[in-house]
Amino acid sequence: MGTTTIHFPIEKTTQSRLSQTNFDQLEFGAVNSDHMFVADYVNGEWTSMKIIPFQSISVSPACSALHYAQMVFEGMKAYRASNGDLLVFRPEKHLERINNSNRRMCMPELPSSFFFEAIDQLVHLDQDWIPRKEGCSLYLRPFIFATDPYIGVKPSATYKFIIFTCPVAGYYKGTVNVVVESKFVRAAEGGVGEAKTGGNYAASLLPAKLAADKGYHQILWTDSKEHEFFEESGTMNLMFVINDTLITPPLGGSILPGITRDCILTIARDWGVKVEERKIGIKEIVNAYQNGSLQDAFGTGTAATITHIAKIHHNGADYTLPASEDRVLSNKLNQYLLDIKHGVAEDKFGWVHRINL
Ligand code: COI
Repeated sequence: MGTTTIHFPIEKTTQSRLSQTNFDQLEFGAVNSDHMFVADYVNGEWTSMKIIPFQSISVSPACSALHYAQMVFEGMKAYRASNGDLLVFRPEKHLERINNSNRRMCMPELPSSFFFEAIDQLVHLDQDWIPRKEGCSLYLRPFIFATDPYIGVKPSATYKFIIFTCPVAGYYKGTVNVVVESKFVRAAEGGVGEAKTGGNYAASLLPAKLAADKGYHQILWTDSKEHEFFEESGTMNLMFVINDTLITPPLGGSILPGITRDCILTIARDWGVKVEERKIGIKEIVNAYQNGSLQDAFGTGTAATITHIAKIHHNGADYTLPASEDRVLSNKLNQYLLDIKHGVAEDKFGWVHRINL
């Protein structure tokens, strides 16, 4: 991966928190492993790369990311295969996406020269933090934020890049009940919906809270013009199965190009499943529900993997989907993807990176 690799110093912790961590009760994002990678962007170049013990950082109160949200992040996962190999899932695709986000947010790109080395060294160093249970993983959170101590609105000249990691189970604890959103939007065409940037998630908090107040786990986001066509669900891409056809909204600028979304579409096509990336809206779903052809609805994401939607609420009506264990296609896709990630199934698409230090 990459051409010239940049090597950097590694300072190991003298106080590991590993033994205090309960791997049987992992809450997504609640525990951080022992180390983190840090680099700074100064004078037009990335510099000062290092791995250090996980620790707080200090920034100026005028730090521009705190005011104008010039930041991007990624979420990726590492696994341990049964033969002990350390596996990272699709790091190249995550680098591609973080750099697409960087361009949209007017931020410097990350070079492959230290991105992959940072991941390899960090996962290797904190390998004992990788949970062993199937479906669990070490979640890597790379992020970059603007650090200029300046509150004029302009692209920062300086940035910090950090990767920290967390042992995680699934993001959602089971199926989700969702409500179709017809007032707020997650993102509009021409906005930053396809960039993985914090503001998209901040904007979702109030609508998600209002949905939670009504007893729903998450939102089915609709388009910004008519509130008719679906975009995403909560923090996930969205898929339906109608009449054995897998249907997902097309990427068009406002939807995050999910890496799990890409995996599911790739595998389904490889299996000969009919796949459609096209607009799909509430009228079609209600119609399919009523004529009995709506077989499945689920979200996809790195954190969530595949999360089944149990119930969709719209205009005072609840549409209850088949029991999640009966959804043949999505369960098969989920298991196969897990098997690839854990090194059980052959890596026929070349998605798995084996750390070899
Ligand atoms: C991911 O799926 O990795 C995400 O970034 C969602 C996140 C907000 C937990």
